[in-house]
Amino acid sequence: MRTIPVKTTSANYPVFIGRNLLAQIPRKLGLHKSARNAFILTSTAIWALWGKKFLASFPKDQQPTVLFLPAGERYKRLNQIERLASELATAGADRSSLLIAFGGGIIGDLAGFLAAIYMRGIDYLQVPTTLLAQVDSSVGGKTGVNLASGKNLIGSFHHPRAVFADIDVLQTLPDRELRAGLFESVKAGIIRDTALFRFMEQNSVAILARDPTALERVIVASIRMKANIVAIDERESSLRMILNFGHTLGHAIEAATGYNRLLHGEAIAWGMLAALQIALARSTVAPDQAQRIERTILDYGPLPAFRTTPAKLLDAAGRDKKNRAGTRRFILPKDIGNAIVVEDVTEAELRSAIDWTLTRARRGFTER
Ligand SMILES: NC(=O)c1ccc[n+]([C@@H]2O[C@H](COP(=O)([O-])OP(=O)(O)OC[C@H]3O[C@@H](n4cnc5c(N)ncnc54)[C@H](O)[C@@H]3O)[C@@H](O)[C@H]2O)c1
Repeated sequence: MRTIPVKTTSANYPVFIGRNLLAQIPRKLGLHKSARNAFILTSTAIWALWGKKFLASFPKDQQPTVLFLPAGERYKRLNQIERLASELATAGADRSSLLIAFGGGIIGDLAGFLAAIYMRGIDYLQVPTTLLAQVDSSVGGKTGVNLASGKNLIGSFHHPRAVFADIDVLQTLPDRELRAGLFESVKAGIIRDTALFRFMEQNSVAILARDPTALERVIVASIRMKANIVAIDERESSLRMILNFGHTLGHAIEAATGYNRLLHGEAIAWGMLAALQIALARSTVAPDQAQRIERTILDYGPLPAFRTTPAKLLDAAGRDKKNRAGTRRFILPKDIGNAIVVEDVTEAELRSAIDWTLTRARRGFTER
């Protein structure tokens, strides 16, 4: 088992990465004697796959209470927070209760926000079950829910007490979900970790075959990169912004396609390719580096097709919460392992990147 410490000004906590971690969680937290005060938030699908194994590690006569969130981005909403808070209250949850987020990024984000506001804040754990949640969303304390007008527009910073990334749980993850998570790790390499990028560039076959050693290396490096950034800039006032590489158009694509056509990681991959076009046009990145970036993203593809209009994407990108006072903020790759934040992307540049993207999105993007 590997442990990566996350150290920020408001919280310090460990991220545990390894195999068979589910069985170890209660003992590590002192819940092996009584878990009466523990509440697990999960989905019926994840629970059907892993619930029995997880519950077996808690004391038989004092099991945690299990709450469910329906699957899908459209349930990452405030009305679910209210329903679940009521269920917590009815089940007797108090300020000393522990909420355990057992699922992908949607469950993690929503459970974190629920924990942030239930009785003005209770402890929670992240037990991410998708690769995307392990390498990205479970670390760093960003929690929240969506509004009809945009993703993650309501939320707070609330760090978990610990994160347990059990690699075994990924065995049941559908291939498409695995690839969606790997796009986030490629992103980590592009913006901050040349060695991770090179490893992913050279080992896509082993990684996609879920070779545990290769997968662990990717997960550990991605989490370490995120932990480093969050330690330097917890509240995203400067460096943490680079984690948003691919997000401006990625979130816009998700919104413009109704949150049901692409997986989050796939939308981010399209967003990264679009941002790469802006970087290329500005000569921020050298053509050979851009080519390696594009190839490596596509190695973890395919990127599914989608249709929308330039106007819808422009509108959604304009509502991005990273924009400030009329500027368009973009993260652009500079070299592999290095990204910059720019605030002066023009509408013409954005339109051109959107056109490039929509042309390829009609048929999906697989070619290398
Ligand atoms: N807080 C952050 O910093 C941050 C960062 C990145 C993404 N996010 C958020 O994360 C969300 C996306 O998360 P996601 O990609 O994990 O999607 P998700 O939570 O929808 O999970 C994907 C699917 O995989 C299934 N699943 C989960 N674990 C499984 C397993 N082990 N075996 C089989 N099936 C399994 C789920 O039932 C679900 O259908 C988005 O809402 C995004 O905004 C947050």
